[in-house]
Amino acid sequence: MAQRPGDLQVFLDRSQAAIMASLPLEGEPMRVARQIGEGLRIDAQQAPRKPNRLPVCDHIAGAVQTARAKGGAVAALADAFAAIEPQLNWERRWTAKPGDAPFYDGHANATIIGPDGLEKRDDIWIGVSLMAPHIRYPDHHHPPQEIYVALSAGDWMQGDDDNWVTPGIGGYVYNRSDIMHAMRSHDRPLLAIWSLWVTDRV
Ligand SMILES: [Fe+2]
Repeated sequence: MAQRPGDLQVFLDRSQAAIMASLPLEGEPMRVARQIGEGLRIDAQQAPRKPNRLPVCDHIAGAVQTARAKGGAVAALADAFAAIEPQLNWERRWTAKPGDAPFYDGHANATIIGPDGLEKRDDIWIGVSLMAPHIRYPDHHHPPQEIYVALSAGDWMQGDDDNWVTPGIGGYVYNRSDIMHAMRSHDRPLLAIWSLWVTDRV
């Protein structure tokens, strides 16, 4: 761990701990989580911090407060996220168009680990998504398997629009390779951490 700053290490440790606390002990999600944890034992080049906030980021403080109130591993993760959040470069999804104002102004993503992250690497991507109340994220899919940890209430779609799951605060969502997925917030903001194991083959 020659290069990784302490606050980022604490975030990654607590992110892994929250995933482990939530996942079933056996099965594919745990296998992916263990591989991500193993990969993170080796750090990579730190990128210059170029913080950027969007208006929707006004919801972060409230979402963090809600997660803290839950206690346990998710509260510890919320604290660690709050510590690194001022370094993050919040961006809109590349498909977002100003003409679709509710989504354009109502969401933001930031990469923490990955090609555009605080730590530059391509084998593991870890980031965060934020949505204002009553926003539906677009359907998307990608080859890497993915594990979300929900820091807020909200629903996740898997496969098709008839299949929504509600992990609850501290719960997880596992997306197998290339499954279509999306998420939607209710009357509170949605904040979630996602981890992708990019080099895995299924
Ligand atoms: Fe995804």
